[in-house]
Amino acid sequence: MSLSALNPILIVEPEELQQALKRRYPMYDKDLFKSKWVLITGGLGFIGSNLAIKLHQLGAKIEIIDALIPEHGGNLFNVASIKQYIKIHNFKIEENEAALCEIVSRQDFIFNLAGQSNHWDSMMDPKLDLNYNCSSHLTLLEAVRNFNPNIRVIYSSTRQIYGKPEFLPVNENHSTQPIDINGIHKAAAEQYHLLYHKIYGLKTVALRLTNTYGPHMRIVDTRQTFLGYWLRCAVEQREFEVWDGAQRRDFSYIDDVVEALLLSASNDKSIGKIYNLGSSEHYSLLQVAELFSEFLNCKYIVKDFPKNRKSIDIGDYYSDCTLIKNDLNWIPNIDLKTGLKFTFNFLKSHICQYTETYAISE
Ligand SMILES: NC(=O)c1ccc[n+]([C@@H]2O[C@H](COP(=O)([O-])OP(=O)(O)OC[C@H]3O[C@@H](n4cnc5c(N)ncnc54)[C@H](O)[C@@H]3O)[C@@H](O)[C@H]2O)c1
Repeated sequence: MSLSALNPILIVEPEELQQALKRRYPMYDKDLFKSKWVLITGGLGFIGSNLAIKLHQLGAKIEIIDALIPEHGGNLFNVASIKQYIKIHNFKIEENEAALCEIVSRQDFIFNLAGQSNHWDSMMDPKLDLNYNCSSHLTLLEAVRNFNPNIRVIYSSTRQIYGKPEFLPVNENHSTQPIDINGIHKAAAEQYHLLYHKIYGLKTVALRLTNTYGPHMRIVDTRQTFLGYWLRCAVEQREFEVWDGAQRRDFSYIDDVVEALLLSASNDKSIGKIYNLGSSEHYSLLQVAELFSEFLNCKYIVKDFPKNRKSIDIGDYYSDCTLIKNDLNWIPNIDLKTGLKFTFNFLKSHICQYTETYAISE
C-alpha cells in the first residue's frame, strides 16, 4: 500500500517548507562564515548537525567535538552528507584539555552545543549532569580565554532554567528558579559564559531554547523531547501517551533555531546577551496530539502525569522573543503544522537510522 493511500495528508511537498523558509531569511552577511574555522561542540547531535550542514553550505571549515554519548542525540548519520568535508573529534570536552586547547586555538567561531538535556536523567545521576553541563563548559571557556579570546562563542541554554513561570509569555527578565538538576546546571553554564564576557571580555552569547524539533532529532524515547517519541510512534503507526495534556508549550523548528544561532554569531549587538527563542504560537499538549491525529493519522491516549515526573514539570510555558526580534531581527518562519509534516516525512524515509545506535568507528 502506498503512503498516500494510508493518509493523503502525509505527502508533504518539500516546496511548502522551501516557500516558508524564503519568507524572511536571512539577515546576516552570507560571506561571514566563508573559509572560516568553526567548531561545533555536540555537532553530531540534533541541533549541531543541522547547523554543521548549513555552515558547510556557507563555506565554513567545520570541526566537531562530540563524544557520541549513548543516551544523547548524537548520530553519525546526521552528518553523512558532509562527512568528507568535516573533522570529527570523538572525546568528552571535560576529559581532554590538551586536544581541546589545540582545536580551540585555530577557530574563528565556536557554537557550544554539547550538553545533556534530559531532566529526569539529571535527577537520576546529578554528578554526570554536572560533568556534561558544567565542567565541559568551564573547560571550554578556559581554553578560549587562554588560547583564542577574541572569537565569538554561542551557547545553547534552555527555557528550563526559568522554572515554573510566574507570568506568560516569559521574557528574559523573568527570574530563574530551576526546578531540576538539569535546569540548575544549564543556568550555571549560561552564567559562566556571561561571566567570562564581563570579567575577561570574551564575546559570548546565550540563547534560551524551547522545545526544538525537526530532522535529526532523537526519537528513540522521550529523552530529548516528547515530540520526538510521538513522531516515532506516528511513523510506526503506534499509539502514544499524553501525560495530562493541559500543559501549554511553544515549539521551534530546527531551521529557525539554526538561523538564530547564525544571526547571534554575526551581529556584535548580541555579545554578552541572553535571548529567548520560541514561537508566538503556543499549544496545549492535547492540541498537539490532535494535530498528530488529524495530520499524521496517529492515535493517542491521555494518562495522568506520573507523580515522580510531575514534581519536575514546569507547567505552562511559552516565550516572549521580542528582544531577539528587536536586536537581531529574528522571527521564526515555520509553523508547527508545517514543521511536523516535514519532520515526519524525513523520519519516514530514514526511520532505521534513528531507532538504532551507531558507533564512532563506522
Ligand atoms: N533539543 C531541544 O529541544 C533543546 C532545548 C533546549 C536546549 N537545548 C540545548 O541545545 C544543545 C543541543 O541539544 P540537542 O537537542 O542537539 O542535543 P543532542 O543530544 O542531540 O546533541 C548533543 C550532543 O552533545 C554531545 N555531548 C554531550 N556532552 C558532551 C561532552 N561533555 N563532550 C562531548 N560531547 C558531548 C552528545 O554526544 C550529543 O551528540 C544542548 O546543550 C541542549 O541542552 C536543546
